[in-house]
Amino acid sequence: MKIGIIGAGQLGRMLALAGYPLGLQFVFLDQSEDAPGAQVGRIIRGAFDDTQRLGELADAVDVITFDVENVPVSAVETIAARKPFLPPVRALGDSQDRLVEKTLFNKLKIPTAPFAAVDSLEDLQKAAKKIGIPGVLKTRRLGYDGRGQFFVRKSADIEAAWKALGAVPLIYEGFVDFRREVSIIGVRSTAGETRFYPLSANTHESGILRYSIAPYRSASLQRQAETHLKRILKHFDYAGVLTIEFFVKRGRLIANEMAPRVHNSGHWTIEGARTSQFENHIRAILGLPLGSTSPIGHSAMLNFIGQIPTLGNILRVPGVHFHSYGKEPRHNRKLGHCTINVASAGARDRALRQLVRLKMGAD
Ligand SMILES: Nc1ncnc2c1ncn2[C@@H]1O[C@H](COP(=O)(O)OP(=O)(O)O)[C@@H](O)[C@H]1O
Ligand SMILES: [Mg+2]
Repeated sequence: MKIGIIGAGQLGRMLALAGYPLGLQFVFLDQSEDAPGAQVGRIIRGAFDDTQRLGELADAVDVITFDVENVPVSAVETIAARKPFLPPVRALGDSQDRLVEKTLFNKLKIPTAPFAAVDSLEDLQKAAKKIGIPGVLKTRRLGYDGRGQFFVRKSADIEAAWKALGAVPLIYEGFVDFRREVSIIGVRSTAGETRFYPLSANTHESGILRYSIAPYRSASLQRQAETHLKRILKHFDYAGVLTIEFFVKRGRLIANEMAPRVHNSGHWTIEGARTSQFENHIRAILGLPLGSTSPIGHSAMLNFIGQIPTLGNILRVPGVHFHSYGKEPRHNRKLGHCTINVASAGARDRALRQLVRLKMGAD
């Protein structure tokens, strides 16, 4: 069985690494021949909207999936008609546009921050008046790791925000004064089986995920998150892994965004759950029985961004597992991560502190 993955980034690479023990083979489509997936599968070189290369990928494999969200829907529709393409193209399309995504959340009765479409300076002024300041102006499309966002902290920021981002369709959102950020990862197979991982608590800095702690135990938040996620899975007749990022405020979840794919906040599942998000994604799109999503002990995942400390120093931390993505170091680039998996929350926090100190030394 061969699986085609559009995008050969670290997520694609980890999907392939999870699939090899199951006897599966992987072919990627990516513009770069030395993308992280290159070491674990063949890469067909091409842009994500290159219909000829997409066709080549479709011909070479049995099922197609993706590891990036910015895959043009019109280009993949042609191959989705020829080979199973999962998660569904509709879910991919809706998650590419923050306005469509948040409108869907509200339609499914999933709470969000107040938001408004912004296509002119006037729209922005109106939105800031109605929703209030502080708020966040974001590009509707193509934003990731905090890119394409402008925090409006006072009225005088409005024009600067418009100048910085105004060339493309935008969304203005109320600023959520959250207590913490959490995410849920769920998986549904083509056979209709569903499972949910425990929540992960995520810490971002400058819009980039720095570390996650899981399982983050809160029966009430877990219940809310699963209810919300189930509605989205049903809405799309979904297959594969789906992630929702939430803000937590006064014990309630406020949805921020969804990702129709495996997610950085779920990397801990490789060592910290009975079955990883990567293996379950593959099982799901092939209609195989899903694996247990139960956590094992306590985990923390830390991203290495821009630089990686020396391997010997990382591996000295108790309970640590290291994953390199095989990328050239570059400012703000995710180069690898490590997961601490230990028996107690106290030991996890001690090891995480040790790792953060190490990372600060490297930065
Ligand atoms: N409306 C908001 N209120 C408060 N913080 C926000 C808001 N929107 C984004 N953020 C912060 O910026 C981070 C990145 O924003 P997000 O919408 O998730 O975009 P990205 O696609 O870049 O991950 C969030 O995880 C959160 O920390
Ligand atoms: Mg995000």
